[in-house]
Amino acid sequence: MERELLGGKFRIEDRKNDHIRICAERDVGAKEISTGFRDVYLIHRALPEINLSDIRTEISFLGHSFSAPIIVEGMTGGTEKAMEINAAIAEAVEELRLGMGVGSQRAAIEKPNLERTYRIVREKAPNAFIAANIGGAQLAAGYTIKEVASAIDMIGADALVIHLNPLQEAIQPEGETLYAGILQKISYLANRLDVPIIVKETGCGISCEVARMLEGAGVSCIDVAGAGGTSWAAVEYYRAAERGDTYGQDLGLIFWDWGIPTVVSLVEVVNSVRIPVIASGGVRAGLDIAKSIALGASLAGIARPVLLAALKGPKETKRFLMSLVSQLKCAMFLTGAKSIEDLKRVPLVIVGKTAEWLRARGFNPDLLYARRSGVSEWACLI
Ligand SMILES: Cc1cc2nc3c(=O)[nH]c(=O)nc-3n(C[C@H](O)[C@H](O)[C@H](O)COP(=O)(O)O)c2cc1C
Repeated sequence: MERELLGGKFRIEDRKNDHIRICAERDVGAKEISTGFRDVYLIHRALPEINLSDIRTEISFLGHSFSAPIIVEGMTGGTEKAMEINAAIAEAVEELRLGMGVGSQRAAIEKPNLERTYRIVREKAPNAFIAANIGGAQLAAGYTIKEVASAIDMIGADALVIHLNPLQEAIQPEGETLYAGILQKISYLANRLDVPIIVKETGCGISCEVARMLEGAGVSCIDVAGAGGTSWAAVEYYRAAERGDTYGQDLGLIFWDWGIPTVVSLVEVVNSVRIPVIASGGVRAGLDIAKSIALGASLAGIARPVLLAALKGPKETKRFLMSLVSQLKCAMFLTGAKSIEDLKRVPLVIVGKTAEWLRARGFNPDLLYARRSGVSEWACLI
């Protein structure tokens, strides 16, 4: 009851600013759980038989051409600061021909004077792939196709992202914990919208069971947003501490490392559905992106590190994204992959806890990846 009363005091704009400030100033990364990228090894190829300068990273995703398989995950909107961040990211992705999502558009749906903090993205990026964003919880709470269509039209979106964040909703005082019936609403929208639907988590991952449900509901893409990167329980822990809410603080601490590690989630999902999958949640380097593609992802998504760059402006955002691309190219050179198609087939091994977790879930990493043709080709040569 006390927490419900507290909840009434928070405005969406204040919450958005809290998220940006806390993500910029505090250590909100996972502590005890890791993405699993460190357990994934791409096999070094001392004879790549290609030239670094010949490597091409272009891809096509949901009918759009990208210069590299990178999307900036949806983060913000709804405040002046958020507008600056959105503008910086949009300018960078337009120039680099990458993609981006905006943060939840609930703020602007409820207060149309905030629309400009999202629209700025299309103004700065007239050609880039841009994804609209609404919460699954808002669908459960009564959003109809009218609100959803207005979010898409607001930014001329190429896709709609529906985010699932039950952990955050359970911890934050203003949380929407009605989660019954969301799948049916997703299915309804998938049958009626003109743009593809991407369903994403927000740092706790998607299991193979949920992925199959989403594919059955007609979504076009799944973004795993697994555990090991930004922890929303951590963000809510700090918010709770600031308002002296010890219940919220305890919840945040206990669930700080909750979720399915990104690599586990990615392997489960890509091996269970036929739709494209985005690897995200703790993707921090071009090498993580290369591993994601080799594991079966169509794109890799990054959130918090881009926020930190965007707070410094569009130039730093562009520099950061370009450095990811050069790291990706280096990994491709060292595995003999001239194109992203080639990278999807390079041999790799998964060891340690990630391999253990996958086996326990019925996915044998050796059968899935280690016996790729590359390995036997090499074995024959020796
Ligand atoms: C400041 C901030 C705000 C976010 N807001 C949203 C949001 O409104 N909608 C959404 O789908 N995800 C949101 N996210 C989650 C990210 O899209 C992403 O799933 C998560 O941060 C994990 O990625 P990372 O480890 O690269 O940060 C937000 C992330 C950050 C850092």
